[in-house]
Amino acid sequence: MDGTVIDLTGKVVFVTGGGGGIGRSIALCMADMGADVAILEAIPERCDQVAELVEARGRRALCIAGNAMDADVVQNAVAEAARVFGRLDVLANNVGGVSRRPFVDLAEKNWRRHIDLNLVSNLAATQAAVPIMIEGGNGGSIINVTSIEGSRAAPGYAVYAACKAGLNNLTRTLAVELAHHGIRVNAIAPDFTETPGTRGQFAGPVDPALWHRPTPQQEEAIRRRIPLGRAGIDEECGRVAVFLASELASYVTGTIIPVDGGTWASGGWVRNDRDDWVLPPEAASRTKESQP
Ligand SMILES: NC(=O)c1ccc[n+]([C@@H]2O[C@H](COP(=O)([O-])OP(=O)(O)OC[C@H]3O[C@@H](n4cnc5c(N)ncnc54)[C@H](O)[C@@H]3O)[C@@H](O)[C@H]2O)c1
Repeated sequence: MDGTVIDLTGKVVFVTGGGGGIGRSIALCMADMGADVAILEAIPERCDQVAELVEARGRRALCIAGNAMDADVVQNAVAEAARVFGRLDVLANNVGGVSRRPFVDLAEKNWRRHIDLNLVSNLAATQAAVPIMIEGGNGGSIINVTSIEGSRAAPGYAVYAACKAGLNNLTRTLAVELAHHGIRVNAIAPDFTETPGTRGQFAGPVDPALWHRPTPQQEEAIRRRIPLGRAGIDEECGRVAVFLASELASYVTGTIIPVDGGTWASGGWVRNDRDDWVLPPEAASRTKESQP
């Protein structure tokens, strides 16, 4: 193995929701490694901002402003990227989102919106990208951004969790269906990650100065439940996406990679006041005051 093993020069990457957070980071990490990048993004200023940053890295950028919940928009955007750049090697199905509410209180309009955002966007992009990859004859890499909530119960987020679980199994199924074309299909499954979305910035160009900062109580809650003791940063997903896009992952397909600081592995164990790992009822009963 040599130091040039991650080289995406000449590759073309398409990212949905690539203007902010994890999608933006995937776009920029791919450009860092040499790829040209097309993004589909709902907020035009974010689109322009990422395109500028990709070009500043010496790569070509294509910014398409549009709504990834609309299958026609997504399919046209993928086709445009392939037309402009002449090929398509990597599809990062990143767009997604959630609002919290008990399932029985969700209006049909709301749960259909969750499905359009988290599932339909992915199906539309994948269906548009695969024939282009097959025709290109160079294989390809599809990277689905799912969530830890696709692998565990997520009370208050039922439809989101159902969509992400669906994406996990779509990942495995398409890995098998597309293997003979040399198209690898994998997913990354983050836990809580600092992004404009999780920090309350839903409009305008990405500006971390506008993000809500976590309170000390929120930081402590994260430290207790995430083994690595902190929230993720978006670039930590971008780096894993680069690995999955690269030759380093040439024999990796059908996997769901947790990028979660160890939360999935911890299976519900949390840190108590003494930094011991305990299961929650014990955490509740063994407070600092009750320790010997
Ligand atoms: N951040 C987390 O803690 C976390 C945890 C688990 C999974 N995820 C998943 O990661 C993905 C990205 O999340 P994020 O936190 O980076 O989100 P974010 O809200 O910070 O950024 C998403 C970007 O996509 C754009 N976007 C939203 N809806 C769109 C649409 N309909 N069409 C086009 N663009 C649209 C937004 O404008 C924004 O720029 C999602 O699939 C999410 O479910 C995030």
